[in-house]
Amino acid sequence: MSTTTPMDALSLPFTTGGPKKLLIGGRWVDAASGKTFPSINPSTGTVITEVAEGDVEDVNRAVAAARAALGGPWRRMKPRHRQDLLWALADAIQANFEELRLLEALDMGSPIGRPRRTPGPAWEAGVLRYFAGTATKIQGETIPNSLPGSVFSYTVKEPVGVVASIVPWNRPISNAVWKIAPVLATGCTMVLKPAEEASLAALRIGELCTEIGLPDGVVNVVTGFGDVVGAALTEHGDVDKVAFTGSTAVGQRIIRASAGNLKRLSLELGGKSPDVVFADADLAKAVPGAAMGVFYNTGQVCCAGTRIYVERPVYDEFVEGVSAYAKKLRVGNSLDPRTQIGPLVSAKQLDRVTGYLDLGRAEGAQTTAGGRRLDTGELADGYFVEPTVFADVRDDMRVAREEIFGPVACVLPFDTIDEVVARSNDSDFGLSGGVWTRDVGKAHRLASELQAGTVWVNSFSLFDPAVPFGGYKTSGWGHEMGQQSLDEYLNVKAVWINTD
Ligand code: NAI
Ligand code: MG
Repeated sequence: MSTTTPMDALSLPFTTGGPKKLLIGGRWVDAASGKTFPSINPSTGTVITEVAEGDVEDVNRAVAAARAALGGPWRRMKPRHRQDLLWALADAIQANFEELRLLEALDMGSPIGRPRRTPGPAWEAGVLRYFAGTATKIQGETIPNSLPGSVFSYTVKEPVGVVASIVPWNRPISNAVWKIAPVLATGCTMVLKPAEEASLAALRIGELCTEIGLPDGVVNVVTGFGDVVGAALTEHGDVDKVAFTGSTAVGQRIIRASAGNLKRLSLELGGKSPDVVFADADLAKAVPGAAMGVFYNTGQVCCAGTRIYVERPVYDEFVEGVSAYAKKLRVGNSLDPRTQIGPLVSAKQLDRVTGYLDLGRAEGAQTTAGGRRLDTGELADGYFVEPTVFADVRDDMRVAREEIFGPVACVLPFDTIDEVVARSNDSDFGLSGGVWTRDVGKAHRLASELQAGTVWVNSFSLFDPAVPFGGYKTSGWGHEMGQQSLDEYLNVKAVWINTD
């Protein structure tokens, strides 16, 4: 692996801290170990920079800083002031969005020219502005009771306290923002642990938090490895809540690690989501819609619609269409503005995905597009795979049951609506589901019967900060986004006042 790349000529946009430091108590400090680890550009396999390798001692310092901040000026800040800080952070993210996108493209591989789902301002700034509006609307209730005499009862909502927010690498800006927004809205404090594969955007957002004047210690950022920093946070006796996004396996470990002090948990975990295409669907929309429901972000999306069930009369036409679509996608370096599909995030993820490509063939799936690593020419040292379509997949194949987290679509034929409902729900996961049909009855029936936290009809992967997102079954606990997601960060206190 060479350590120079033309991309090194790009100066990283850090101003106060930088990737080799941790943000603890408002200051940029060295990791206690003094160690760093490389941040790798997955398009080239080269080192972008070194990142501080936090350990248990750093976690202890960061949790102490978050605890101290909870008792400082932050506690006395009025909701209106927290609202203003959220707006200021949104403005800062907006103003620095191109640089943040560059960081994301460099260490995670997300294409710099990725089509924006919503034109105009940065979507993540919109998330912060939505949550800014919620800060002034957190309220309890006055509740009539039936006790004799004059006893008055009401509830108040209080911040749950110190939150450990542990995020994956698949959408570095969004992952950080989705966790910071409810913390600031509710008056909690946090230790943010980015994924070791992609720490840079979170570190820059940490800088922006200090630049807008957020009180010291409200947002701390500790980089490092999951089994060290992540594990220490989830076991820590002074952390009140863990907000986690990542694999179901780690989610299960976090549940066990959190038992000591009964931490509040919200878990956004894996998926193997069904996407159901009926024969009456508008295939001109369903084919690209279902295809991008899998291939978007190189398939590294928790809610990807990777099990595409297609009604028998249009099955062949659909397989042909989605395979042709996959073959046309332009795979390349994340910094090339023409790239539609970037690399996988890491060599480990490349091994995992190519392992599933071999497995799918061995299990008897038909490869109708892609199926191989791309390792020639400019792509030779990156972690690229072809967008892949497996047809004639059976429900019992491992490629149809396990989360691959790569650009791999499994297409399966079905005959009846009862059958496709049962087969869609025959999964341990329950994150999302899709339906493509012109029949409003079928749309409603699947919206009602799919066991999933989100169902999209004639679209896939729509998100809005006002609409809750969360999983059924092993896809998780709790919600992000939407007004109700704030409750994950709040305690409810009942107060009784005897006025006799
Ligand atoms: P992961 O679940 O190990 O990593 C997510 C985050 O958890 C990272 O910040 C990591 O450092 C941290 N972590 C790891 N072990 C921990 C522990 N014991 N305690 C606390 N935190 C810990 O996911 P990984 O290894 O990056 O990816 C493996 C597979 O997981 C993927 O191939 C994919 O199938 C799935 N995954 C799913 C995601 C989703 O959004 N549904 C996101 C990332 C991965
Ligand atoms: Mg990386």
